[in-house]
Amino acid sequence: MNQHRLSAKGIEVRFGSRTVLQDIAVDIPNRSRLALLGANGSGKTTLLRVLSGAVKPAAGVVSVAGDPVRYNRAGLRTHRQLVQLVTQNPDDQLFAADVFRDVSFGPLNLGLAESQVRARVAHALQVLSIEDLAERPIHELSYGQRKRVAIAGALAMRPSVILLDEPTAGLDPQGVDEMVQALASLQADGTTVVISTHEVDFALWWADSAAVLVDGRLVCGSAGDLLADTELVAQARLRQPIVLQLAAELGLAGRGIRNVAGLSAAVAESGSNRQPA
Ligand SMILES: Nc1ncnc2c1ncn2[C@@H]1O[C@H](COP(=O)(O)OP(=O)(O)OP(=O)(O)O)[C@@H](O)[C@H]1O
Ligand SMILES: [Mg+2]
Repeated sequence: MNQHRLSAKGIEVRFGSRTVLQDIAVDIPNRSRLALLGANGSGKTTLLRVLSGAVKPAAGVVSVAGDPVRYNRAGLRTHRQLVQLVTQNPDDQLFAADVFRDVSFGPLNLGLAESQVRARVAHALQVLSIEDLAERPIHELSYGQRKRVAIAGALAMRPSVILLDEPTAGLDPQGVDEMVQALASLQADGTTVVISTHEVDFALWWADSAAVLVDGRLVCGSAGDLLADTELVAQARLRQPIVLQLAAELGLAGRGIRNVAGLSAAVAESGSNRQPA
C-alpha cells in the first residue's frame, strides 16, 4: 500500500539571505501518523507548505508515489488532490456562507456531479462528527468547530495525505479531545496524517513517528526515541513529555512508554518483579 507515499529529499528553503530549511529529507509511509515538532520559527509551517506544493523549494524534490511535483498549474492541481494542507487558522481557509457550501467548494471545483459532491460532503462531515453543523453559517461557529470544518473541506478532496498545521493549538481540553477523535477517524478512513505541534505529550502517544526541526535541519525517528533525547529536546526548545520525565524519575526509562496507561503498566510490572525483602 505504498502507492501514495509522500516524500521529500534535499529540501532547501531560503527567505532572502536566510536559509530556513536545509537538506531536509522525510519519507511518510501511507496511512501513517507523523508529528512534526520544533520551536516557534523553526520552519514547521514552511515545511508543510513545501510538502503541499504551496512553496517551491530552492533545492530538492517533493514526490508522491515516486513522482516529483511539477510546479505548473496542472502539476500543482494534481498534487493538491493528493496532498491537502489545513492551515493553523481556520479563518484563512473558510470563506463560504455555511458549512455545506464550504465543504462542497473543492469537490465542485473538481467538476464532480452534484450527487457525488453531496456524497463527499456527507462523508467528510461524518468522519469529523459535524453532520449537525451542515446548515450552520460559518460565522456562528466556535473556533474548534471551524477547525473541524476546515479539515472536512480538505477531506472532501479525498486526498492521500492531510497536513495539519497545529490542529490542537488554541483548543480547550474538550476541543482537543474532539480533535483527537477527528484525527483517529481520519486515519481509520485511510488517510495519512501529518501534524505540526508543540504538544510533546500529545505527539508521544499519538504519532507513529516524529520529526524534529532544529537549526533548519530535520531529525526523524520514533517519537519515543526523539523525545527521550534530552540534548535534542533542549536544542529544539521543546520539553520532555511528562510520562517520560516520570519514567526517568522512577528508573523506568527506555520501556517504550507513550502515555499514562503505559507508565502505569510499567510501574505495576516493576512492582510485581520486586523481590520481597
Ligand atoms: N513568507 C516569508 N517570508 C519571509 N520569511 C518567512 C516567510 N515565511 C516564514 N518565514 C520565516 O521562516 C522561519 C520559519 O517560519 P515558520 O512559520 O515556518 O515557523 P514555524 O515553525 O511554523 O513557527 P510557529 O511555531 O511560530 O508557527 C521564520 O523565521 C519566519 O520568520
Ligand atoms: Mg507555524
